[in-house]
Amino acid sequence: MESKGRHVERIPDVLAELLASWSSSGPDLNDYWRGICENLIECSRSMPATSFLRWPAIKQTMHMTHRPEHDTYYQFLLEHDRWHDRWSLGLQETPVGGYIPYKLNITTSPQLVQHNFHLAYFMACAGVDPLQVDAVLEIGGGYGAMCRLFRNLGYQGRYTIYDLPMFTEIQRAWLLDVGIAVDTESEAAGDATVRLCSDAEAFAEQAKASSGKTLLISTWGVSEIPLGKREALLAEAGRCHAILFAFQEAFGSVNNMTAFNEFMGRHSDTFTWRGGPIPDKPGNFYLFGTRR
Ligand SMILES: C[S@@+](CC[C@H](N)C(=O)[O-])C[C@H]1O[C@@H](n2cnc3c(N)ncnc32)[C@H](O)[C@@H]1O
Repeated sequence: MESKGRHVERIPDVLAELLASWSSSGPDLNDYWRGICENLIECSRSMPATSFLRWPAIKQTMHMTHRPEHDTYYQFLLEHDRWHDRWSLGLQETPVGGYIPYKLNITTSPQLVQHNFHLAYFMACAGVDPLQVDAVLEIGGGYGAMCRLFRNLGYQGRYTIYDLPMFTEIQRAWLLDVGIAVDTESEAAGDATVRLCSDAEAFAEQAKASSGKTLLISTWGVSEIPLGKREALLAEAGRCHAILFAFQEAFGSVNNMTAFNEFMGRHSDTFTWRGGPIPDKPGNFYLFGTRR
């Protein structure tokens, strides 16, 4: 059950506590995300936390305003044969956080339209139902919207999100307020409890420990993380059952086309790869892997 912003209201205090031990230097964070984290702190000091989805640091990176491609995605969902029993339900937004309404349907947001599209398009191209897995590992989970979508669509299995500590805290607050149990003590948590993690090695261990089918998902997460850190995170990716990546061709000085091609090549014996340009989003690509 949603708790009307009880934890979200505390985001400024939690971020202030984190700031005391936060080091903005080091190879794990690039300049872009260092700037976003700094801006996030500024926003938390000057803007209401109950509508944190409107903060520039969030709107710019993970809760976007309307763009033309959202209409393409919405139309795709409307015409999909699972519209009635799946996507129409998945599109329902929560008031927690003050979402930006989508102009063609104000009960949803452009961001949630995009998230639903990722799953529907993956199903269509890869022939795998993303909900029919035993575990989901997400890298760079934003404020937790994809995780909430999985739960709203009825997925009950294990869900683990890896992210920067500040975003892990935002995920914790928002997910708790939308009625989803979360924990950082992964061993203690049952499958109904979402695991939040900021340690790359511990995250990779989750892939190792998972029995059954694991879906690895990262939409503009891996592609925005420094190359050195990606290696640790993806060390056990070959154990997964399926992979859903969305990425931009370059991020800062990193050529993602080269990086994702290398990743694909390393796992060409394990996965069948599909994907290609993301509809109506020039310079952005899907990479879908299904176990051979
Ligand atoms: C562009 S956002 C994408 C969020 C979400 N997946 C979506 O599609 O809306 C990138 C995500 O990667 C995370 N991220 C960026 N740099 C990171 C780093 N160095 N380590 C871990 N996570 C990082 C951000 O906190 C954020 O959750």
